Amino acid sequence: MSRAALPAFHDDLDACFAEVWRLLGAGVERGRSGFHLPALATLGAAGVPRVRTVVLRAVDPEAGTLRIHCDRRSDKADEIARNGACALMAYDRETTVQIRAEGRGTLHTDDALADAAWAAAQPMSRVCYGTAPGPGTAIPAGDAYALPDADAAVALGRPHFAAVVVRVAALDFLYLDRRGHRRARWDRSGTGPWTGRWLVP
Ligand SMILES: Cc1cc2nc3c(=O)[nH]c(=O)nc-3n(C[C@H](O)[C@H](O)[C@H](O)COP(=O)(O)O)c2cc1C
Repeated sequence: MSRAALPAFHDDLDACFAEVWRLLGAGVERGRSGFHLPALATLGAAGVPRVRTVVLRAVDPEAGTLRIHCDRRSDKADEIARNGACALMAYDRETTVQIRAEGRGTLHTDDALADAAWAAAQPMSRVCYGTAPGPGTAIPAGDAYALPDADAAVALGRPHFAAVVVRVAALDFLYLDRRGHRRARWDRSGTGPWTGRWLVP
């Protein structure tokens, strides 16, 4: 019975680190990757954790940042504005890898980064930012909200659009394989270098 070879990163900590960023990058590009739709956790008022699914929009391995988009009127945007503490987590069945990232999120609403992200967004995505009333508002019936058409969304949605850049400070990698699970963690402080180590899975 033939078995797939163990991945090259299996006993190579640096290769694991490269694999983390490669998989996150693939998550941006491939809708079917588990890393396309991570869960994003923020700190709610009164210290309650809040978590929801988001689309991973961009990854910068050099800077160690992840980008997602949200409505400025949403709870998550308020939570990040109040306290940037963020965590993202995703599992990809195909590679049997879980990645957890912790860091600080910064809200970009009215700068060149937000402008570029908005310009690159699909018309279908822009429409959501024109929702009236805003996300999370209590309504008397399930359909008591309106979405603009694609043309109107360009003007109506932009004031509500926010890009969130999470500067990652800690990464946790878990690879599942019956021949030997592998877990590793990397941390960095400020602009310092990443320090990695193996952990018991
Ligand atoms: C597949 C999927 C993708 C989603 N992508 C996003 C996203 O990229 N940004 C976003 O703000 N909400 C996204 N949502 C909706 C959020 O999960 C959440 O329901 C909504 O943003 C309200 O969250 P909040 O009240 O915590 O801010 C997505 C939901 C699903 C199911």
